[in-house]
Amino acid sequence: MKSHCSIKSIVQQLLEHRKDLIFGNIIAIAATLLVVVIPLFIPIIVDELLLGKDHHFISWISTHIWQTDTKGYVIGILVFIIVLRLLSTFLSIFQTKIFVSISKNITYKMRVSLLNHLKDVSLKEYEMMRVGAVTSKLVTDVETIDGFVSTTVSKLIVSSLILLFSSVVLLWIHWQLALFILLTNPVVVLFTVKLSRNIGKLKKEENRAVELFQSSLNETLELFHQIRAANKESYFFKQSEARAKELKEHSVNYGYKSDAAMKLSYLIFLSGYEIFRSVSILAVAYSDLSVGLMLAIFSYLWVMVSPTQDIINFQYVLATAKAACRRINSIFDMHREPVVEEGVNPFEGSAAIDIEVKDLSFAYIEKVNILENINMKINAGSKVAIVGASGSGKTTLANILVGFYPLEKGEILYGGVSNRRLKLSTIRENIYLILQHPKLFNDTMLFNLTLGNSYSEAAVQKALHIAQLDSVIARLDKGLDTLVGKDGIKLSGGQRQRVAIARMVLSDPKVVIFDESTSALDVHTEAKLFEALHDFLREKTVITIAHRLSTIKNAAFIYVLEDGHIVDSGTPKELLAKDESYFSQML
Ligand SMILES: Nc1ncnc2c1ncn2[C@@H]1O[C@H](COP(=O)(O)OP(=O)(O)O)[C@@H](O)[C@H]1O
Ligand SMILES: [Mg+2]
Repeated sequence: MKSHCSIKSIVQQLLEHRKDLIFGNIIAIAATLLVVVIPLFIPIIVDELLLGKDHHFISWISTHIWQTDTKGYVIGILVFIIVLRLLSTFLSIFQTKIFVSISKNITYKMRVSLLNHLKDVSLKEYEMMRVGAVTSKLVTDVETIDGFVSTTVSKLIVSSLILLFSSVVLLWIHWQLALFILLTNPVVVLFTVKLSRNIGKLKKEENRAVELFQSSLNETLELFHQIRAANKESYFFKQSEARAKELKEHSVNYGYKSDAAMKLSYLIFLSGYEIFRSVSILAVAYSDLSVGLMLAIFSYLWVMVSPTQDIINFQYVLATAKAACRRINSIFDMHREPVVEEGVNPFEGSAAIDIEVKDLSFAYIEKVNILENINMKINAGSKVAIVGASGSGKTTLANILVGFYPLEKGEILYGGVSNRRLKLSTIRENIYLILQHPKLFNDTMLFNLTLGNSYSEAAVQKALHIAQLDSVIARLDKGLDTLVGKDGIKLSGGQRQRVAIARMVLSDPKVVIFDESTSALDVHTEAKLFEALHDFLREKTVITIAHRLSTIKNAAFIYVLEDGHIVDSGTPKELLAKDESYFSQML
């Protein structure tokens, strides 16, 4: 199923937490009711106790519950109100806990599905990906969604209820005044809404600036070594600095404009409040509204402030959530590797497998073919080499053989089974491509060999021995537990290549592709390495890509690649006999 971020999908997720949601809201409503009745005590105190007016409440208490004097009632009501506030606070803490865990759960799931999507993203997409942009989406935008979910689920219903309750109370106290307030209030709200309209847009610009800054900084730091070697620190850091400046400008813009909009809308609200207050005073002077009830109305006006703002703000939160969703969807929109549902496994039960490439053409950019009409037949267990000048398409071909790039034209048969019927994971479990530029993790040597799989001590030692690494490990201060540094910076290029070879040995594939995997080794070490690999590779199908004769002299068959075409092929002997071939020129 294709994942997608939208308000609808968020609501659907919320509904999956229906039980908690209902429970949380019941708690929230209880917490709200406990405090929202408090202003009703004002008329009791003011009118009945101070002004001697009778709303029948004190008289009811004195006959049914408790008879005391004014001081006693004031203290009694005080204690009762404090108890109400205390209960309400505890309930609201509990309610927050429920809502926070709902929203964190939803955002966690969103992150997981984003990660799952990225896991399967095609290499072509990956190559164009700005890593900083992707990470900022997973951090900032998902956080925005979190804010939306937590404020929506915890506040929207409760805020509406507070408004409803307050409206009912106001209508009950003095319906004409209440109608005036309730009809004018939306106008005030509308003003404030209009004012803050651009906040969402500004926020979007600020987020984008954050993303650009992050991705520029990421690249600078990732290529730090290279940058230093080229003496270009100031250029690249200046670039990041420029991004930081842009970010500052956007942030200032967002910071003060959103604040201004907030304050102005508050000002409008307060002015409204002042008007309502004056009208209420007039109502006391010219109608039968009591002072205590007037004070209760003032209190309710305040009670209504924050729910009204929550409801006004809801649409901004909604707008920012929608924007965050759009950005998150740009990750979900990235193409994934093709999925083969029910794969065939031609590798099962055989030590090696033959590979046939049929009429394969390939282009990174439309219509610019990097490989054209490639036909190859590699028999099970045979040792084949591909040679060609730099840029002739060797690495591209190797990548295609392990399914890194989808085939648009042509077909590859693995043991007679078309690539279209094979799961990519099956291909990669059995065909091991040793990358031309193997990358190491900033972890221990052991982790870099096993990549988290568990192998016996003996297997690791054997792989190290075959890859000519035993002496290298012996010289490391902590042996296999030595950290290799970022990108394996503590190792030489040749050592890194040998780590990649040891990795391959441990995973024991049926087909091995060496993509210039020994290019950084001296001829002597290379010879020893291939000698040690000889038994290991005996039954496997092996494709060796190289542009050095020493690497491929033992191949049984050689393909010569030139500008994406196979221009020649044959046994080393046959090719050597032809003076003009690339192979003989390698000598
Ligand atoms: N990811 C890519 N996107 C676009 N063009 C690429 C990409 N990788 C390689 N190329 C181009 O494809 C051609 C073949 O590259 P490659 O297969 O790496 O050659 P080789 O391994 O023989 O040196 C080169 O011209 C290179 O510029
Ligand atoms: Mg290459």
